[in-house]
Amino acid sequence: MKVFQAIEQRRAVRHYQSDIEMPEQDFTQLMSAVLLSPTSYNIQHWRFIRVTDKAHREKIKAAAWGQDQVSEASELIILCADINAWNDRPQRYVANSPKETQDMLLPMISAFYSNKEQLQRDETMRSCGMAAQTLMLAAKGLGYDTCPMIGFDREALARLIRLPQGHVIGMMIAIGKAKTPAHPRGGQLPLNEVLWENHF
Ligand SMILES: Cc1cc2nc3c(=O)[nH]c(=O)nc-3n(C[C@H](O)[C@H](O)[C@H](O)COP(=O)(O)O)c2cc1C
Repeated sequence: MKVFQAIEQRRAVRHYQSDIEMPEQDFTQLMSAVLLSPTSYNIQHWRFIRVTDKAHREKIKAAAWGQDQVSEASELIILCADINAWNDRPQRYVANSPKETQDMLLPMISAFYSNKEQLQRDETMRSCGMAAQTLMLAAKGLGYDTCPMIGFDREALARLIRLPQGHVIGMMIAIGKAKTPAHPRGGQLPLNEVLWENHF
């Protein structure tokens, strides 16, 4: 599938054929694509929970106010992030770079994020957003539909997935084969309402 086709055909699908399992090969291909998403300084803040246990899914569905896609979809991925990833063995993010690049980047990462809590948290959400869009487009390319979701009780979900200290939940994404098509598009804002030239 061409990139533009995937962008146009990706829709938030709420109902899935619940008897369909995603082959492990598709799952691996999908997640391998997700890992190629861009992040600031290549920090890769994301941490993913793949919810495979059906009873666990039901509890998560309850925390998501009963939304059917949580239990019906073939896969449910919860996109989380480590707020302190910028400071957790950052050598890993530049491991393949030449030594002089490493020597330049490592102090830059530290200076950029040290003592900036809001920025550290904002960065996790940017990284989750990047991963989410890659996941949804890659899923479309493999013939699956998706639904990004933030409609859940954050504290309840955090308890259910045992979210570690210093981590945040970005969103969850249901992935599967549509049972019913997405609603007609809600209405896209015209470009001239959202695009300015040079400044607001
Ligand atoms: C961060 C985020 C959270 C969302 N949360 C939910 C949700 O909890 N439940 C739901 O049914 N749709 C959810 N949606 C889907 C949006 O309603 C949908 O993307 C939007 O209406 C545009 O439709 P489209 O994705 O089909 O183009 C969410 C989308 C995003 C990006």
